[in-house]
Amino acid sequence: MPLIEFAEVTHAFGDGPAVLEDVTVSLHERRIGIIGGNGSGKSTFVRMINGLVVPEAGTVRVDGDSTANQARRIRRKVGFCFTNPDSQIVMPTVAEDVAFGLRRLKISKTEVQERVAAILETYGLKQLADRPAHTLSGGQKQLLALASVVVTEPEVLILDEPTTLLDLSNERRIRREIEQLDLQVILVTHHLHLLDGFDRTLVFHQGRLVADDHPDQARTTYRALI
Ligand SMILES: Nc1ncnc2c1ncn2[C@@H]1O[C@H](COP(=O)(O)OP(=O)(O)OP(=O)(O)O)[C@@H](O)[C@H]1O
Ligand SMILES: [Mg+2]
Repeated sequence: MPLIEFAEVTHAFGDGPAVLEDVTVSLHERRIGIIGGNGSGKSTFVRMINGLVVPEAGTVRVDGDSTANQARRIRRKVGFCFTNPDSQIVMPTVAEDVAFGLRRLKISKTEVQERVAAILETYGLKQLADRPAHTLSGGQKQLLALASVVVTEPEVLILDEPTTLLDLSNERRIRREIEQLDLQVILVTHHLHLLDGFDRTLVFHQGRLVADDHPDQARTTYRALI
């Protein structure tokens, strides 16, 4: 698994208060959960892993590369799925959107089509392949956003609340898919049961990393905080 290292990371946006303070942690497990209250710094933390946010103080490294100057290289390794799928869907149709992520992989048209078809099938989107992406429901868009990232075969997959809009059946589908993925997964979620079987869970509270533990203990710590 890739090694993600935060060293003495502190960050504020503009003149605002610190939203992350003095975070030092190394992550190399296969399944890592991130929990904490609204505004506690979870999204900021995971955005730092692929250089979407560069810390004001301290460093973030992925396999030794710093996000401050190697973000391009890191982004080839680290796939990111946003909470709001609209911020990530870029192409007119569902199939085109999935294919878009494959453009830099220098593979044949036939292989692109095969990979797109396979992933749409897996995520239950096959019937929607030629639909304009903006006409999908919120949950369908969330599935599409995830499919479009997974199809690029990243080494690390960051999921920032990927199930907020999903019904029970699709939440189960995503959970099953996440379980089967042979890569490092970092999952930010308020759905605490999704962390069953995870290797490790971090708890953020008011910008600080307050617990780093087995999911069961971490969930107990989080519940005690609120
Ligand atoms: N681009 C930004 N500009 C200014 N402030 C920001 C920005 N992004 C986040 N913040 C602030 O940083 C703090 C932490 O936000 P963050 O999105 O990391 O929280 P979170 O733990 O992901 O919360 P939630 O559970 O609601 O998604 C919040 O107070 C938020 O208002
Ligand atoms: Mg968030």
